[in-house]
Order: sequence, then structure tokens, then C-alpha cells
Amino acid sequence: MAKIAPSILGADFGHLAEEIHDTDQVGVDWLHLDIMDGHFVPNISFGPSIVKTIDNLTNKFLDVHLMLSEPEKYFEPFVKAGADSITFHIEVHPEPIKFLKEIKGLGVQSGLSLNPDTAMEKVLPFLEFSDLLLIMSVFPGFGGQEFIEKSLERIAVAKKYIVSNKLKTKIAVDGGVSGENAAQVVVAGADILVIGSAFFKSSDRYALTKKIQSL
Ligand code: DX5
Ligand code: ZN
Repeated sequence: MAKIAPSILGADFGHLAEEIHDTDQVGVDWLHLDIMDGHFVPNISFGPSIVKTIDNLTNKFLDVHLMLSEPEKYFEPFVKAGADSITFHIEVHPEPIKFLKEIKGLGVQSGLSLNPDTAMEKVLPFLEFSDLLLIMSVFPGFGGQEFIEKSLERIAVAKKYIVSNKLKTKIAVDGGVSGENAAQVVVAGADILVIGSAFFKSSDRYALTKKIQSL
């Protein structure tokens, strides 16, 4: 059974409370919160105060994706705001063990992410210290981009490593995932599908959610 984690970046911020309530109504598993600093990625999103607002609106697991050049400065503020997992990028910390341990020390799950052009081998040795591997299937910064097909092979490589090393690390896939390609992404090895625009633009969010959860 795959999990669905709608990316709030795709929601209508003018009606944020209704959007969050709707994700609860349709029974999604997690909420994915994209934090961008205008430096690691060429876009700016939102910070801990919006995460706190969302945390007050729902009991859902909040999966916080830090696209920041100095993520470690913000681990604690996001945990205090209600994050249940904190993911940062290997590109900013190629030696991530210390930071993964720091996140676990704050009492939440830890995650490592990598961009589509970063070799999978850069993260594999650290997966034993990480609860989550967030594989980017677009270049981060914006919602609504097209899924990079080559990501399927990358997901399979990571899955093989996790299985053969008997690790518990879950694989999440982020960017361009939709009802159309979800099955392929899960077959390749994904446990959690982050879905932004395809979820919030869907005419039947309930059916999409059930479809993903049945995979
Ligand atoms: C991209 C973000 C994604 C994005 C997903 O920088 O990390 O989480 O919002 O949105 P879609 O599903 O529209 O690609
Ligand atoms: Zn994301």
C-alpha cells in the first residue's frame, strides 16, 4: 500500500484552511510541506509560522522538505512548529550523518533528498541513518513540472540497496507524480508519493487518494 502526501505548494493559499480540511476529508496519509529559501532553489515559499498554522488545522503527519542552503539552522524552528519529519538535501551536506542524528535528537523522523542530477551513490551509504529517502523527480523549486522518466531507474536502484541491506528507510518520490504515472513509480519502489498540482487540480481528490493507496 502506497502513501499519498499532497504537497501544499499546489494548494489554493487563499483558502488554506479549506484545502487542509479537504485533505483530511479524503483521507490522505501525510502532508508534504516545501520550504524554499530563494538560494538553494530559485523560489521562496513559506516558513515555520505557516507550518504552525497548518499543524493547528490538522493532526496529519507533516513531512517538511527543506530546500535550503543552511537547513540545520531551521531544524528546531520547524520541529517546534509541528514538523513530524525533516528532510534536507545531500547537495548541501555531502557528509550528512551529524545532521540526520541532530534531527532524530529533536524527536522526529529524518530524511535525505537528492536532485535528479545527483548520483544515487552519494546518498546510499547514509540511508541506514535516515528514515526517509526523498528522490526528486523534477529539479526542485516549482510545482507543476514534468516527471523525469529516468527517475524510475533511480528509484529502483535505491530500492534494491534498501532491500539488500535490510534497511527500514522509506522511499518518497517528489515532482510530476500523478494518477497516470503513480503505478509505475510504486512498481519502481516508492512507498510515498508526493503529489502537488495533480492532487489539488484533480476533479476527484477522493478517487485519486484511494487509487494511490491501493497500489
Ligand atoms: C518541488 C517540490 C515538490 C512540488 C511537487 O520543488 O519539492 O514537492 O511541490 O509538485 P508537483 O506534484 O506539482 O510536481
Ligand atoms: Zn517537495
